[in-house]
Amino acid sequence: MARVAIVTGGTRGIGEAISVALKDHGITVAANYAGNEERARAFTERTGIKSYKWDVADHQACLDGVAQVEAELGPVDIVVNNAGITRDSTLLKQTWEQWQEVIDTNLGGCFNMAKAAFPGMRERGWGRIVNIGSINGQAGQYGQVNYAAAKSGIHGFTKALAQEGARFGVTVNAIAPGYIDTDMVAAVPPDVLAKIVAKIPVGRLGKAEEIARGVLFLTGEDSGFVTGSTLSINGGQHMY
Ligand code: CAA
Repeated sequence: MARVAIVTGGTRGIGEAISVALKDHGITVAANYAGNEERARAFTERTGIKSYKWDVADHQACLDGVAQVEAELGPVDIVVNNAGITRDSTLLKQTWEQWQEVIDTNLGGCFNMAKAAFPGMRERGWGRIVNIGSINGQAGQYGQVNYAAAKSGIHGFTKALAQEGARFGVTVNAIAPGYIDTDMVAAVPPDVLAKIVAKIPVGRLGKAEEIARGVLFLTGEDSGFVTGSTLSINGGQHMY
């Protein structure tokens, strides 16, 4: 029986590459998205992967969204918590709303999705949760106290939940991407981005597909002994 996966933020950027890679491996994928209807529709037309709209920051919406996916596609075996936003600004300029939005979406989203999907995985004795963290959660980043805190929190969340899932065949791992060629990174001011790229030993931005490769490994049938780990995919920018 084909596994069923939900990829949050799964219709664009890194999430799109993950959705497509999982589908190409015979997994039935539900791609969640929050806002961009047009991109989601185009994604579904192009890939044949169903897209589902809900906000991962909304606890009840996650419970309802997972229930809908399970009713339509079957029990959810794999969750990739990829949905994330930036609201970059220095602490002096950052508003409480900018802080809260990033914490609620990037970190709260992982909690909300795990609450919805983890109990079923545990009962069925098999599950894979992959949380997309960030190099900036490992190393910090000027102008990102909100994002770095949320991403750093994801790494702690991963290690704690991995301990709870281990006896039940549910692995929980994180990937810490570096700077990947997506809309999110394209929003960084060009002069700032040029300085960042100059510090990447591999000498370029990463590709979304290079993160998807990591997800395929961590969600594999034969990856059951890998749990609580963080896979850094960052072109050598930060060795942690
Ligand atoms: N270290 C030290 N000082 C720095 C600095 C750094 N890394 N970056 C900027 N500064 C300094 C500037 O030189 C400038 O100093 P002066 O005023 O003395 O000239 C000052 O900080 C600018 O401060 P401001 O508060 O005026 O900054 P700003 O409002 O113009 O913009 C910013 C600040 C929004 C943070 C902008 O620098 C920025 O967008 N930085 C990029 C942040 C980033 O990398 N985001 C990653 C997004 S992608 C992502 O998050 C994906 C992932 O997981 C990797």
